Amino acid sequence: MANHRKKFIDLLDKAMAAADMMDREDLLFSYKGILFPTTMCSPETFKALESFEARSEDVILAGYPKSGTNWVGQILNNLVTTAAENNEDETNSLNDKELEEFPYLEVGDPEKYQRMEKLSSRRVIFTHLLPQNLPESIFKNKAKILVLVRNPKDVATSFYYFNNGMSTYPSYETWDEFFTAFMTGKMPGGSYFDHICEWSKHDDDENVMTLTYEELKENRAWGVKKIAEFLGLLLTEEQLQAVVEGSSFQAMKAKSQKTHGGVGNILFRKGGVNDWKTLFNEDQNQEMDKTFEERLARTKLGAKIKYEVYCKT
Ligand code: A3P
Repeated sequence: MANHRKKFIDLLDKAMAAADMMDREDLLFSYKGILFPTTMCSPETFKALESFEARSEDVILAGYPKSGTNWVGQILNNLVTTAAENNEDETNSLNDKELEEFPYLEVGDPEKYQRMEKLSSRRVIFTHLLPQNLPESIFKNKAKILVLVRNPKDVATSFYYFNNGMSTYPSYETWDEFFTAFMTGKMPGGSYFDHICEWSKHDDDENVMTLTYEELKENRAWGVKKIAEFLGLLLTEEQLQAVVEGSSFQAMKAKSQKTHGGVGNILFRKGGVNDWKTLFNEDQNQEMDKTFEERLARTKLGAKIKYEVYCKT
C-alpha cells in the first residue's frame, strides 16, 4: 500500500477510536465561529496554519465537505504522479514516501506545516476551509486552486449519511433534525451557503478553476482533461484514459478498503445525482429553494450549480 494511504488510514482509525470514547456534545469545537471535529483539528493547528508557506506549484483542492473531494483528489494525484513519470522536471510530494502528510491542510498536529516544508513540489493539498480562513500565502503566492462544488440537496443528503456513519461526527436521530442543522450552518466545516458565496468571490481569479460534481459525473473524460490543462500537466491520451477509468465510482469503491480502510464503506455510498429525492419532503424542498434563491442564485458558483436542473422535483 502506498505510504501516504497508510498514514491517511492510521490517522482516521485513531480519530475514530478517540471519538468512540467521547460524548456527542464534545465531538465538535468552534474556531472563528465554525465547527470542526475535535479528534482531527485543534485551535493550535489553526494557529500554526497561519504561517504555512504556500508555493506557486501547489495545487489546492477546496470545497465544502461531501462535494466529491476524495474523488477529485484521486484524479489530481493520479494526474500529477503520471505527469512526473513522463517528465523528470515534474516532481511531486507523493513520491516523498516517508514525509507525506494527511492530505487535508487543516487536519493534524501543529508541527505538520514545518514538516510540509520538506515536501517536494507539487504538493496536492485538500481543504474544507473558507477562503478567508486559508493562509494568505496561498493567494499571495498564486497556488493553483481547484474549487469543487456540488448541488446543496445532494451535499446535505451525503452529509447526513456520513455524519451518521462516522463516529468523529455527531450523528442525528432523524433526517429532519439534520436538515435544520444543515440549513443553519451548524455543520462541521460551517455553512454550505457561506462556502459557495465566499468561493464565488474568487471565481475570476487567474489561479482558480471551478468544477462541479455534476459536470464531472456527466463527462469524466472531459473533466480529467480540463484539470490536466489547468495544471499544465502533459499526459498521453492513453494515460488520461487510465486516470478516467480508475476514477469511476465502481473502481474507487472496489479499492476503498485499501485506499480508505474502514471509512471506505461509509464514504463511497451512492456516488450519484438526485439521491436527495429519497429524503427531502415538500416543506424542505421549498425551504432549500427559497434559501438558494435568496443567497446563491445570483452568485457565480450558484449559477454553475445549475439548481434548476439538479435540484427541482
Ligand atoms: P454520496 O454520499 O452521495 O454517495 P467527499 O469526498 O467530499 O467526502 O464526497 C463524498 C461523496 O462523493 C459521496 O457521495 C461519494 O459517494 C462521492 N464519490 C466518491 N467517489 C466518487 C466517484 N468516483 N464518482 C462519483 N461520486 C463519488
